Amino acid sequence: MLSGKEFMAQDIDHVLLDEETIQNRVRELGEKLSKDYEGKEVILLCILKGAVIFFADLARAMKIHVKMDFMAISSYGDAVKTSGIVKIAKDMDSSITGKHVIIAEDIMDSGLTLSHLCRVLNERQPASLKVCCLLDKPDRRECEITPDYCGFKIPNEFVVGYGLDYQQKYRNLPYIGVLKPETYK
Ligand code: IMP
Ligand code: MG
Repeated sequence: MLSGKEFMAQDIDHVLLDEETIQNRVRELGEKLSKDYEGKEVILLCILKGAVIFFADLARAMKIHVKMDFMAISSYGDAVKTSGIVKIAKDMDSSITGKHVIIAEDIMDSGLTLSHLCRVLNERQPASLKVCCLLDKPDRRECEITPDYCGFKIPNEFVVGYGLDYQQKYRNLPYIGVLKPETYK
């Protein structure tokens, strides 16, 4: 019998970013953020659910105090293309007024989700608001937004793993891979 991971791996066409590559880059991002935010009161905001694994690793790579908060927002149903409809399913617990907020997000695709989210959060008047994305698909952008911190720029392919899902599956793969087209067609 195949183990869980091997079972999931059957649906992966190829690995785009392996575990070690991701971990090294996340460590670099954590070090950069630690320097840039030294001495500041930081809220690291996890955008559920896709960013959860990235957020947990990034937080541990940061050598400064951070408060953690969580928000659930999505522009995707269970489809592989954006619906353009952004909904907040769960808001943050803490006030961000006068605080330095770093949004940890899994991927910037059309950019619609994050540009909407930034608009909402800026109304709350944080001291600063920056976006830290693990992945960026710049070719897919439909609005004027770029991540302030980015792990990897990737081509226009649908990827899963390390928090990213297809129909809520594959989030627990430790690497990022491209799904076989027959998996979602
Ligand atoms: P955007 O609003 O089009 O930028 O979409 C951002 C959201 O779409 C992300 O937070 C992901 O949940 C989802 N998404 C975009 N591309 C992918 C992908 O390749 N795999 C899995 N989810 C994706
Ligand atoms: Mg998703």
